[in-house]
Amino acid sequence: MFVQKKFVQKDFKRYTITSALPYANGPLHIGHIAGAYLPSDIFVRYLRSKGKEVTYVCGSDEHGAAITLRAKKEGTTPQAIIDKYHQINKNTFEKFGIDFDIYHRTSSDIHHETSQEFFTNLYEKGEFVEKESEQFYDEEYCQFLADRYVTGTCPNCNYEAAYGDQCEKCGTSHNSTDLINPVSTLSGKAPILKSTKHWYLPLDKYQPWLEKWLIEGKKGQWKPNVYGQCSSWLKAGLQPRAMTRDLDWGVDVPLPDAEGKKLYVWLDAPIGYISATKAWAADKGKNWEDYWKTQKKKEDESCLIHFIGKDNIVFHCIIFPAILHAHGGYILPQNVPANEFLNLEGDKISTSRNWAVWLHEYIEDFPDKEDVLRYVLCANAPESKDNDFTWKDFQARNNNELVAIYGNFVNRAVVLTHKYFDGKLPKVSAHEAVDQEVLKELAEFPSRIADSLDKYRFREALAHVMDLARLGNKYLAETEPWKLIKTDEKRTATILNIALQIAANLSIVSLPFLPRTSDKLAQMINLGDFTWSDAGRADLLFVGQNIEKATLLFEKIEDEAIDKQIEKLENSKPVQQTVENVEPQKKEMIFDDFMKMDIRIGTILEAEAVPKSNKLLKFKVDTGIDTRTVLSGIAKHYSPEEMVGKQVTMLVNLAPRKIMGIESQGMILMAEDSEGQLSLLQADKNVQNGSQVS
Ligand code: MF3
Ligand code: ZN
Repeated sequence: MFVQKKFVQKDFKRYTITSALPYANGPLHIGHIAGAYLPSDIFVRYLRSKGKEVTYVCGSDEHGAAITLRAKKEGTTPQAIIDKYHQINKNTFEKFGIDFDIYHRTSSDIHHETSQEFFTNLYEKGEFVEKESEQFYDEEYCQFLADRYVTGTCPNCNYEAAYGDQCEKCGTSHNSTDLINPVSTLSGKAPILKSTKHWYLPLDKYQPWLEKWLIEGKKGQWKPNVYGQCSSWLKAGLQPRAMTRDLDWGVDVPLPDAEGKKLYVWLDAPIGYISATKAWAADKGKNWEDYWKTQKKKEDESCLIHFIGKDNIVFHCIIFPAILHAHGGYILPQNVPANEFLNLEGDKISTSRNWAVWLHEYIEDFPDKEDVLRYVLCANAPESKDNDFTWKDFQARNNNELVAIYGNFVNRAVVLTHKYFDGKLPKVSAHEAVDQEVLKELAEFPSRIADSLDKYRFREALAHVMDLARLGNKYLAETEPWKLIKTDEKRTATILNIALQIAANLSIVSLPFLPRTSDKLAQMINLGDFTWSDAGRADLLFVGQNIEKATLLFEKIEDEAIDKQIEKLENSKPVQQTVENVEPQKKEMIFDDFMKMDIRIGTILEAEAVPKSNKLLKFKVDTGIDTRTVLSGIAKHYSPEEMVGKQVTMLVNLAPRKIMGIESQGMILMAEDSEGQLSLLQADKNVQNGSQVS
């Protein structure tokens, strides 16, 4: 069994905390949050509560094939994609209470400069190996294929849909030319090999250094899932890795003979942490180097911690440290507490299958319940193995834990204080054995929770927090102040004082996990400004001070709300059609009948609702032949915003028809299922407008 024997949390005075920069190519889902954002946010709030100096940086990863592929899919430009999703994700993080100091962008000038400086520095030191090699090239698209543009069979585990750089199934990384049966995602055809020049980082050269720093140095300190992955890579032997790509989107390679070449996205993205810190420091009048550079005295150095999901381990534990080491003058990560994956209702979360709980939708569907999701995602975090989120578990944890334990305890203490003592904190008289016992236990909680947090055991830490609420409930159940009040007011006063002191402690220790609840509770009991080091004390509230009227910290979540979410998920599953539901086949026709129809691919340029109609949308479509107006009865299925930029299939030689006073010059083709759900018919990749369908 793994024992964190050598684990000593050295006390640092300053912390640089990073969360993986999410690609600005789509919205955030609960898997992202559980993996890289909630644990870091909890950790940062905890450090701040301990009075530590922390900078917590994140931002959008705006380069790489993730962006260009998305742009292609949405029929728009990479710039439009990153502008859209950067804003959406920044807002979502804010609303959800992930408290970054800065949410930066890798498209910013300062980032381009910083990553180019890294490249130049390594180049001038002769760290790169320049190599002409054969790379995959799509002849139809006249384009070299970046890793993510090639899929094929994983050479390690035989998974058939592995990407060029990495297999999502077994997690190994490879070069795209290692794939068996490679296919270009652009043309769907087998790519050819063509010669091109690139700059490689000889990771094999850093192998001995990595073995010392990581394998020897981090043993017993890094989580077993992280350490294990790293050691198996090192065991397999590291290979040189190209740090440049043939692409037209990204950071330019700062060399005269590198036209059309960009930095590898996994070179530039982690440097994004540094550029984000630079931007933040410039704004706050701080020195960014304090957070990133080695210092004359070791104890002046910042503690760097990367929070990521498991698919990012190799990049943060091996490649980025090698780059920082090769550059020199930079600190290295103390820890990389990566999480495993979160599944949803027993199935892998998937953006393309829409199998996800989207954070922005959660925030809308469950207003003011951010803490509930934080609670569930932390209590169920995939800390050491993949884990499952289910809506039933979400409901149960809310109703049986947050409402029944945490909320109930606070509510009882506050309500009884109002009932018997007019909302003023009553006085403690003599302590009885049961009081001494509870106070002794109370004093032990903060260090117990801190101990778990220091080891990145967030689930365990949260369980301790709930145990404190349980302790409060048990104390009230044992002492029964609602009975005692009839015979012994003094004793009742002591009990409610102690109960409220426990509630005050609960506010402090739950702050990292449930920031809004902690705040609400603090306001309810008029708790002053206390920090982590005050927790454990039983004198945080003052005799005679006001306690506000009880408000509910948590509400019961009814079946109806849960059923709705489950239904929403079910609807995104592929429908299993039963034969009975399908319309019977129409009468046979001849080929010439079909050929009379002129069906083309066009792009929607503009879309708007038709006044007084809840069914119709009005479009301006570029048909390749011309630009024309078309009406379509799909308003219940698609919003005008999401239609703009989409390619559609259209019958263009249908005689014009007037609908609601507007002339429709064609018909957009759609599939309709037995329940009347409509879906657009689209070509499976972007094609030229005016392309004929036959
Ligand atoms: N965008 C990457 C992903 O979503 C993570 C980048 S982390 C960074 O997998 F360090 F490179 F920024
Ligand atoms: Zn594999």
